[in-house]
Amino acid sequence: MSTSNSILSDADFVGAVGVHWERRPLAPEPGLAALLDRPQLDEGGKATVVQAVGALVIDECVAHGYHSMDLVVLHPGTPGLDETLERFDKPHTHADDEVRYILDGEGLFGFFDASGQERVLRVGPGDYLRIPAGVEHRFTLTAARRIKALRLFADTAGWVAQYTQRPAPAMVACA
Ligand code: LAC
Ligand code: NI
Repeated sequence: MSTSNSILSDADFVGAVGVHWERRPLAPEPGLAALLDRPQLDEGGKATVVQAVGALVIDECVAHGYHSMDLVVLHPGTPGLDETLERFDKPHTHADDEVRYILDGEGLFGFFDASGQERVLRVGPGDYLRIPAGVEHRFTLTAARRIKALRLFADTAGWVAQYTQRPAPAMVACA
């Protein structure tokens, strides 16, 4: 019997390719919410967010050996944003897990099953993803071109992208 992956739910599809995806709903106190509302943050603002939200993922650090975390902030005014997105949009893998806890804005992750079929997952605040080392993926922003995500690292050197050279047209968000 042949089954089409199009009948799988997003959760089943990403689970089948090895990605861990869960909801960790955020209930930011007003000060933190105000920081997350800003398109851009200085280093002090980022550190405040990392400290507040990092506490919510300590279990993952312990379970998977992540030693450091930072906050990635992308917004329409980010210098070099188009070039950055061009790199992210090409299918790739990493030697270490790619871990993202989305705190603000939204993005699109593309994942590929064994037959090469792509499933695009739209992520927003409260989505927590662990893409294990070696699992092929790509990423882009939606039309709002804005995201804040906590990144967890076992070793920042392992985060360099290895492009898989899979031919794939650019991802485009509907809205
Ligand atoms: C990265 C993503 C976005 O490598 O896949 O940072
Ligand atoms: Ni990546």
